[in-house]
Amino acid sequence: MEGEEHKQITIDNMVYRKLSNDNIQSVYQLFENNSRFFSIPFDYFRRGTLEDDGFDPNLSLILFNPENNKPIAAFIVVKRNEMNENYCFFKGCVVDKKYRRQGLGSKIFYEFLSRVKEKEITQVIYGPSVPEYWQPGVDIRNTSLYFFLKKHGFKSHRAIFNLTVSLNAINKEPVRNKDGYIYERVQPKDFKKTFEFVKRHFPNNTWAEEVNFSFKLQPPSTFIAKDENNEIVGWATHSQFFPGSFGPTGVNELLREKGIGTELFLWCLWDIKQKGLDRCEIMWVEGNTVKFYSKTFGAYISPIFYPMYKKIK
Ligand SMILES: CC(C)(COP(=O)(O)OP(=O)(O)OC[C@H]1O[C@@H](n2cnc3c(N)ncnc32)[C@H](O)[C@@H]1OP(=O)(O)O)[C@@H](O)C(=O)NCCC(=O)NCCS
Repeated sequence: MEGEEHKQITIDNMVYRKLSNDNIQSVYQLFENNSRFFSIPFDYFRRGTLEDDGFDPNLSLILFNPENNKPIAAFIVVKRNEMNENYCFFKGCVVDKKYRRQGLGSKIFYEFLSRVKEKEITQVIYGPSVPEYWQPGVDIRNTSLYFFLKKHGFKSHRAIFNLTVSLNAINKEPVRNKDGYIYERVQPKDFKKTFEFVKRHFPNNTWAEEVNFSFKLQPPSTFIAKDENNEIVGWATHSQFFPGSFGPTGVNELLREKGIGTELFLWCLWDIKQKGLDRCEIMWVEGNTVKFYSKTFGAYISPIFYPMYKKIK
């Protein structure tokens, strides 16, 4: 049972250190060993911490046991000034299983609170720190984390659903030409055009920046559809958040309901399967789209996230 295995420690002996190139590998291992429902490769962890330009090294608290130089707890915090310069986001909070339920998480949280007050931060959110986030809230299977945040005065926003799709039925390569449209993996010559297409058609969110991340992967994990004039009419991106994640995606509004989005999705599923994965997780699906993916691809709601927030006074 979570929290049963205790190792008594003297909290006063612990020291906070900043996340750095020297300790990032051990902090990554701490997350991997203690996150029951989530795992990411090391390069995604690095990109989401030290390489995230909103990463806040003073608010991200890593507690070390100086006797063996190992991290035993870590709270990773980023800021998103474009969204609101008085907000900050928890990307992940973890206490090593052996040290739980001794008030360690709470002690770190109080230290965090005293630091944010000096910085005039008015709200802390465990939720989507777009464009670079791992999960859009607390995966509610993480019961300890959910109650921990509630105890510390966090409130829940409306739930966000991801959908899981099995790749068992994806057995043949999707078509490259269909109904006058061409489907292909984005090539460097089309990076700029694709970015601009996303920006133009979806100006009110950070999708273009998210798609940009996929251009840095080898090979790029975005597929595009072009019409006979070689103009981009839609795109779909996968593995941007973590391997096997799906999204964002979009098709020119005038050309919707012609099956272009479905072909792009199939290309992503196929590509994910070629990497040896057996399922895909569609990120942050809302409204009737849930039903669409469920009817068409047998997707089911899982996992469910609660973005949680606390106002700082
Ligand atoms: C959430 C977490 C950080 C709390 O750290 P901790 O040091 O154990 O927390 P504390 O000892 O300060 O406990 C404070 C409160 O948290 C809640 N809590 C902690 N463990 C809990 C559990 N297993 N079930 C329910 N509530 C729990 C309780 O409200 C507790 O207060 P109480 O003792 O008065 O009941 C830790 O349990 C953890 O790492 N959980 C896993 C998190 C995870 O999966 N992260 C992955 C995503 S990044």
